[in-house]
Amino acid sequence: MTNGRMFLLVVLLLGSGEVNFASRHLRGEDLGSSSSQQIFKRRILPIFQAAKPSSCTECHLSGVDLKQYIRPNQADTFAALRQARLIDVDNPEASKILTFIERAPDDPNPVTQEIREKELSAFRAWILAAVKDSSLLSNEGKPQPAGPTLPVEVIRHARKDRVMASFIDNIWTEVGRCAACHSPDRNQKQVAEHGEEVSWIVLNDPQATLKYMLDADLINPKQPRQSLLLTKPTLQVEHGGGQKMLVGDRSYKQFRRFLDDYAATVRGTYQTADQLPRASDEVSNVTEIWLKLDGIPAKYDKKLLQVDLYRETDAGWSEHRVATSDRAVFGAKGLWQHSLSVTAPRDSAQAKRLSDGKLPPGKYLMRIYIDAADKLQSDPSAELGKDELVGEVEINSRWPAGYGKMTKARFPVD
Ligand code: HEC
Ligand code: HEC
Repeated sequence: MTNGRMFLLVVLLLGSGEVNFASRHLRGEDLGSSSSQQIFKRRILPIFQAAKPSSCTECHLSGVDLKQYIRPNQADTFAALRQARLIDVDNPEASKILTFIERAPDDPNPVTQEIREKELSAFRAWILAAVKDSSLLSNEGKPQPAGPTLPVEVIRHARKDRVMASFIDNIWTEVGRCAACHSPDRNQKQVAEHGEEVSWIVLNDPQATLKYMLDADLINPKQPRQSLLLTKPTLQVEHGGGQKMLVGDRSYKQFRRFLDDYAATVRGTYQTADQLPRASDEVSNVTEIWLKLDGIPAKYDKKLLQVDLYRETDAGWSEHRVATSDRAVFGAKGLWQHSLSVTAPRDSAQAKRLSDGKLPPGKYLMRIYIDAADKLQSDPSAELGKDELVGEVEINSRWPAGYGKMTKARFPVD
């Protein structure tokens, strides 16, 4: 066989995906040197075949993996990466695929960082060798394109920074409700009685808190509704703190929004952009301002009562509610009391000021809703509306913070 025909045969074999036979051929030819084919087989193929996820998953919870950039044979891999402009044949060290792999969070997980460095040195060694291989350079095959196949919106949705933002929006802003017993700066008594694991809030650190919740199985990514984070405070299972949420109340809805979405994201459920959940129209923040209603008829015992507050403006009552609160009625004493959450339309100027947890003194309209028919129990995603509106009351308050300084009002007689 002449050299020319041998060359052609190798190209054909590579192109048709006969990795083993082709590499045996090349090894015989290049004995002792590190041919690109040897490097591909020894260092790139194992990444392709690995059961474990690649380093990309440290920032992309699903949808993206280094495997998507590898084809079962070297020729297709090279051609696909080159066509995607991820390999720079003139300046191989500057190949974009290397920049991709090198990307790491500020504080990478040491195990993942080790995987990342291995991936990087494998790809660098292979690319440096491959760009010298004239058979690869002249290959004009049309392999399947390199990279993820999902729409870019789905890939963006599954990015860890986006997932964190949703966690902060939906859960972190609510944990103030649970802090008295679950935050390490406030729960010495609970720890003495129940042990360290009662401290599931990591102070001022939402990222570490989410990680803790996952590690301690407080979040169940397979069955998000069964997460202890939901079933404990709603008393669907026994809870040392008693009932802190009702199925369908605002906190519950927010917890569910995050948990359902998180589960779908890590499982890679979303395939198209219109399957992605929309963010809520409103943002909120828990405050230390308390509101109490008394004189509530006993028939409303244990029913969810929701108060929305509208602020007086020159043009009448504000268009959007500026605060809200919901909790079960305590029928035996005819009362209801709870802390307020301040609210604002997402992306409004007001939304940026919610974190101070204040409500300006002045005149407000309270709209009071009661879920007398337990509508939210059967459909936790429903909202209370006209059918549940039981009354409106004007109220004037300076809205001081603290349980001992709560604003008091009388339930309107119906
Ligand atoms: C340190 C976190 C981090 C790591 C690790 C990471 N990425 Fe990304 N990736 C991002 C961010 C952030 C973006 C959003 C666009 C940008 O900022 O470049 C992104 C965007 C992307 C996109 C484009 C989607 C879009 O928004 O247009 C792809 C594809 C991608 N990354 C693939 C990968 C692959 C493959 C790996 C592993 C080799 C990886 N990423 C590792 C953070 C990361
Ligand atoms: C008045 C105190 C108190 C409040 C407030 C409270 N809890 Fe608890 N919680 C406890 C106690 C005590 C335990 C430990 C006993 C148990 O597991 O029920 C506990 C346990 C838990 C656990 C299980 C922790 C583990 O590692 O097993 C979860 C999850 C939980 N609570 C969620 C919540 C949520 C969510 C809130 C706020 C909406 C909340 N709790 C508010 C007292 C409280």
